[in-house]
Amino acid sequence: MNLLLLLLYNFIEVTLFHTCAMALQTNNSLVLVPFRYKAFPLGSITASGWLNDQLRLEANGLAGNLFDFYRYVAESTWLGGTYEYSELHESAPYWFNYIVPLAYIVDDSRLKSQAQQFLDYTLSHQAEDGWLGPETTRQTRGVWARSLFLFGLTQYAEAEPSQTERIVKAMHRFTILLNSMLRNNFTGLIEQHSEGDDFDPWGFGTSRTHELPVSLQWLYDNYPSNNSDLIWETMELMFAGGRQAGRDWTRFFVEGVFPTLGTPNIVTSGFTHGVNLAEGLRYPTVLYRMTKNESLIPQTFNAVNWTYLYHGSRAGSIIADEHLGNLSPQRGSETCMAVEMMFSMAYLYRFYGVNTFADNAERAAFNALPAALSPDWWAHQYVQQTNQPWSRNLTAQPYFNVVPYGNTFGLEPNFPCCTVNHGQGYPKFVASSYVLEGESSIIHSLLSPTTLRTIIRGSELSISCETNYPFSGRLRYSISCGLEFEFCIRIPSWATADSTFRVDANNWSSLLPNSDGLQCFQISSRKTTIEVNLTMAINIGEPRNGAVAIYYGPLLYALDIEYANATYHGPLNFTDQTSLPADQITPETHDWVLDATSEWRYAIDPTSLTLQERFPADQDLKSPIWDRQGPPVVIWADAWVVSWEETLGTAGLPPVNPVVSGESTRIRLIPYGAAKLHIAEFPVANMLGV
Ligand SMILES: *[C@@H]1O[C@H](CO)[C@@H](O)[C@H](O)[C@H]1NC(C)=O
Ligand SMILES: *[C@@H]1O[C@H](CO)[C@@H](O)[C@H](O)[C@H]1NC(C)=O
Ligand SMILES: *[C@@H]1O[C@H](CO)[C@@H](O)[C@H](O)[C@H]1NC(C)=O
Ligand SMILES: *[C@@H]1O[C@H](CO)[C@@H](O)[C@H](O)[C@H]1NC(C)=O
Ligand SMILES: *[C@@H]1O[C@H](CO)[C@@H](O)[C@H](O)[C@H]1NC(C)=O
Ligand SMILES: *[C@@H]1O[C@H](CO)[C@@H](O)[C@H](O)[C@H]1NC(C)=O
Ligand SMILES: *[C@@H]1O[C@H](CO)[C@@H](O)[C@H](O)[C@H]1NC(C)=O
Ligand SMILES: *[C@@H]1O[C@H](CO)[C@@H](O)[C@H](O)[C@H]1NC(C)=O
Ligand SMILES: *[C@@H]1O[C@H](CO)[C@@H](O)[C@H](O)[C@H]1NC(C)=O
Ligand SMILES: *[C@@H]1O[C@H](CO)[C@@H](O)[C@H](O)[C@H]1NC(C)=O
Repeated sequence: MNLLLLLLYNFIEVTLFHTCAMALQTNNSLVLVPFRYKAFPLGSITASGWLNDQLRLEANGLAGNLFDFYRYVAESTWLGGTYEYSELHESAPYWFNYIVPLAYIVDDSRLKSQAQQFLDYTLSHQAEDGWLGPETTRQTRGVWARSLFLFGLTQYAEAEPSQTERIVKAMHRFTILLNSMLRNNFTGLIEQHSEGDDFDPWGFGTSRTHELPVSLQWLYDNYPSNNSDLIWETMELMFAGGRQAGRDWTRFFVEGVFPTLGTPNIVTSGFTHGVNLAEGLRYPTVLYRMTKNESLIPQTFNAVNWTYLYHGSRAGSIIADEHLGNLSPQRGSETCMAVEMMFSMAYLYRFYGVNTFADNAERAAFNALPAALSPDWWAHQYVQQTNQPWSRNLTAQPYFNVVPYGNTFGLEPNFPCCTVNHGQGYPKFVASSYVLEGESSIIHSLLSPTTLRTIIRGSELSISCETNYPFSGRLRYSISCGLEFEFCIRIPSWATADSTFRVDANNWSSLLPNSDGLQCFQISSRKTTIEVNLTMAINIGEPRNGAVAIYYGPLLYALDIEYANATYHGPLNFTDQTSLPADQITPETHDWVLDATSEWRYAIDPTSLTLQERFPADQDLKSPIWDRQGPPVVIWADAWVVSWEETLGTAGLPPVNPVVSGESTRIRLIPYGAAKLHIAEFPVANMLGV
């Protein structure tokens, strides 16, 4: 964002702050509980180093090209076309939700123009009565996709002040209509069969009633106009509709109700759907902002805790192949869950400032997300498995409700939601990587190479973090500012006690993070340099059924399985799995077949792990980084080939403490996100026989 835009933004902020304050004076009405930390407007934070390379790949890959060729975006009903993959009409809004932050973070005029074409089309086609979107009948007008569209709009309004007024106006008109619909027995939210409603046959909208309020809260906080009471009531009505539909997440995040087992041993519902859950983790907090019911806070912590404890993937996401899968390394974890967990954890961190939420966001960002993408960002999986020795149409069915083709890297290897939703991951991660506490305390919350440029109390300020993190623990900040302020760096909870820092090349000191996990500095000179060395150690994750996972810092390490003869064919139509016609694909879109050409059935000795720097971890990283040859640091382990059966068309559950004999081999582990075929949950060798 250039200086002019920043000044403009500041001006709007100030102006609206006054409007808002006045509204609160004239009406002693309700206040939303503020976030502990404020976000910076989209565009203030940009990426550099490996993360910028990733965003460029994303912009030049599938995500940045869907607008031009993909039928569910380019020919979506939202743009006057005829293609939708479901009654929800959600595909183009999913796309919009990520193209806006991607376009503004990489500052790419092609993508900005895509976003603007969509904005212009949709706002100029807003219906007389205020409805946003292509639907014209009661039966097809479902609220859900509007939640995604409004996510895109609010980001747009922040990034492009020239569009703010127009966007806010459209949101108000829509909110007024929505209010009247919801008051009329939740029209558009709960289907009435007597009316022939057909906008949400699977109850996704009723399971996600907190998502629209996220944007309405933004409107209420920033641009309430004359509408505060109506906005507030609309938010309440969304929650009330969810309750009426039996989708109150506060009834689910309860001990004894929350499932400790997975399918097929549980009864499925909207709550056991993995993407719903990843989103539902935000529900109690969005509600808390309104009700101030203090019980919702421990409930949120428990919800996150149980989600990871009973259904967490080693890579930082949820195991659910549609519905929860417990801890099985055979089961699928959807790409949508990785990006929604990143978004939820960043949201919760910003609200509560609890360190583990940010650690969780990083873990999904550096493991689950990249593992699901081809190195060039032109193909993605629908589901990934923790142990995944091949990626192809499986000969049997390990998943609960995903086609056996679901772990293929392709265009739409199952439902197309991940085709249109994977793109939000890194752009939103970058956008939430710095936050503001109070008036002038800035926190680097999600670590990676990024730069923040902002204006605090009228003074320009920039913080640039040069780093290869998470591939290295070394961070170097160049800070330039014209005022005194506090700068804090979030210290991940895995960082060991010998982590150090120094300011302006003075002596190194030990890090002493405060109780929030923050290492804070008073910045008073115009130019300051801060260096931080986070010391990583190899961590062995909690055994699951005797098998272990290996971490080094935030990275999960996995067996580097070779797939020397990867092949591909044209992308298949997800509905009938026939080849898509040539006018529906591009030369870069493929569905890949990856078969292991090296051994994968190893048990390891977890005490034998050693690190190796393939190349200096502090020199410029390769791009694409999430490729077998990319990451600079590898781990070696003593291992033995064991009898490990194939079941359900894939690697069976790891044998429990298999007895091994004979010479061990040294096997190489690389970051999971780079190992498109991988074993990440290893049997521990019983070495009595060695
Ligand atoms: C203030 O709030 C009350 C109750 O929510 C509402 O009836 C009234 O219309 C509001 N007044 C203004 C000026 O918005
Ligand atoms: C309101 O909706 C419920 C289902 O959500 C339905 O049973 C009831 O008949 C509806 N009432 C009216 C007046 O339409
Ligand atoms: C607020 O309401 C008044 C009176 O209805 C109207 O004149 C004014 O334009 C409204 N302001 C905004 C920002 O909508
Ligand atoms: C407050 O939240 C708790 C936890 O969700 C819930 O059990 C309780 O009913 C809520 N209280 C009120 C007054 O809504
Ligand atoms: C679970 O909650 C406890 C305390 O409530 C906390 O110490 C622990 O870190 C949490 N675990 C996870 C995985 O969030
Ligand atoms: C995948 O294999 C299953 C049998 O396991 C078969 O029914 C299905 O047609 C195959 N799909 C593709 C895309 O080849
Ligand atoms: C830095 O370390 C050197 C050598 O240990 C010591 O002599 C010096 O006093 C230290 N400087 C400060 C400012 O602590
Ligand atoms: C911090 O890391 C840099 C680069 O790896 C190294 O030169 C320096 O000695 C480290 N400092 C400490 C105190 O470990
Ligand atoms: C995909 O398959 C469905 C079901 O056979 C069919 O209706 C649709 O036209 C196909 N889409 C394309 C783009 O070929
Ligand atoms: C390619 O992979 C298949 C297993 O899917 C294997 O049978 C074949 O030998 C491999 N070919 C080469 C040239 O490695």
